[in-house]
Amino acid sequence: MNFELKALSLSSAAVAKCDLLVLLVPQAFEPAQDPLSALVEAAVRHGDWSHAAGKQLHCYRPAGVQARRVLLVGAGSGSQRDLRTALGSVSAVLKAEGVQHAVLCLSALDDAPAAVRASVHSVADASYVYTLTKPQAKALGLQKVTVGVADKHAATPAFEQAVAVALGQGLAKEWGNRPANHATPTLLAQAAKDLAKDADIDCKVHGPKEVAKLGMGAFLAVAQGSKEPLQFIELSYQGAAKSQAPVVLVGKGITFDTGGISLKPAAAMDEMKFDMCGAASVLGVFRSLAELKPAINVVGLIPACENMPDGGAIKPGDVVTSMSGQTIEILNTDAEGRLVLCDTLTYAERFKPSAVVDIATLTGACVIALGGVRSGMYANEDSLGQALLHAGEKSQDLCWQMPLDDDYAEGLKSNFADVGNVAGRAGGSITAAKFLQRFVGTMRWAHLDIAGTAWKEGASKGATGRPVPLLVQYLLDSAAAAKPVKTTTKPKSAPRKAPAKTAKAE
Ligand code: BES
Ligand code: MN
Ligand code: ZN
Repeated sequence: MNFELKALSLSSAAVAKCDLLVLLVPQAFEPAQDPLSALVEAAVRHGDWSHAAGKQLHCYRPAGVQARRVLLVGAGSGSQRDLRTALGSVSAVLKAEGVQHAVLCLSALDDAPAAVRASVHSVADASYVYTLTKPQAKALGLQKVTVGVADKHAATPAFEQAVAVALGQGLAKEWGNRPANHATPTLLAQAAKDLAKDADIDCKVHGPKEVAKLGMGAFLAVAQGSKEPLQFIELSYQGAAKSQAPVVLVGKGITFDTGGISLKPAAAMDEMKFDMCGAASVLGVFRSLAELKPAINVVGLIPACENMPDGGAIKPGDVVTSMSGQTIEILNTDAEGRLVLCDTLTYAERFKPSAVVDIATLTGACVIALGGVRSGMYANEDSLGQALLHAGEKSQDLCWQMPLDDDYAEGLKSNFADVGNVAGRAGGSITAAKFLQRFVGTMRWAHLDIAGTAWKEGASKGATGRPVPLLVQYLLDSAAAAKPVKTTTKPKSAPRKAPAKTAKAE
């Protein structure tokens, strides 16, 4: 999608050339002397339309307006939720035949940056079409969307961020959606290598031999039942001085989760192709970083493999030695995510990160706890939890903080190893987090359980690309927070070529 940001008043919107002009109108709308104001006024006066969020009125060739089609959309109070409702209702119209260039006029809204973010997000979402194994799927006629705001300058950082996030989220969706036979660990590794074409991104991929040499006994154990060779993907983005501690993102990359010998039931097992959505979100974030070039260092780690039942697969009761040296009794081979993640978290220590955030479709229990609205979030340090919560609100990619009381770890005790890989059914998302916490040592760490938010079921079945918006927002906020510190240290090298203008959105 081709996005453009333009300064647009209501009177200039009336003369904008396009196939479809969408005007978002909040309750607080104050009509002026222009054709669109007159249209809104008349529609309200005659009781044909109201400002309620999502209420639509389709007009054809209204007086004094250039666009053939004009769509009035109620934006309610202009709150984030009302904006989402309003824009969600527009997506079907954007897909209408004959609409190649649409103008979305947001000039009547107060919070232009929020409206711009919501608009770009919703248009990008509506225009995504999966085609890899369904090439006949109908692509959208829509080619270009002009987002019109009263003050272009004030909305520019939000716009640039939103477009970059849309690209990253689109990549995350695409890899999430690809069937397991089209998204093997090797293909994921190739996708990561493709990202490294950017000058500021590097990629190393470690194969089974290197992973064995590293002593990642837990990761190896999960992969041993599959014919597909595991891949350990290491991405790095350098946007700040080498000396600056990176943020490490760890994405669960189970390209298919059968459950292993603890086999899953057949119903909806196909959805376990989405078990690499954490990994896909890491790829997506790097795509966004390549666009935005914020002044921060980021490492992305992806343990990628399949979880299969096989003559060579791990069996319930097997004990393996993790890279940390801790032994693990694998009581349930379906609790494989934490096994690939624990070794990756140990590996993350070598980067001496300022924070580690892992992202994983980890537990069905999290779906029960929070549904598909908010991702589960755990943090072993308050300011990190707050930062993620805030980034979620700002990007409207919500999460909710969950507890890490030590009492929740009781059930993980084992008679045959340092730790078991499962506890009882109760609090399943929390006990999984407690398992991971054993491997983070003193690192500042957070865990996002995205089992409920990474994909949708039913008619709109497909990956959501979450939590790319949350993560990008968190990284930009971190870059902005690190900045004043940088200026007080003595300058040792020339400033970066591209100052992180988008880091200070709003
Ligand atoms: N990938 C699943 C988690 C999952 C299940 C996500 C359903 C979304 C929908 C994970 O590997 C898993 O199987 N977890 C088990 C853990 C259990 C064995 C302790 C689960 O949640 O059932
Ligand atoms: Mn599993
Ligand atoms: Zn899994």
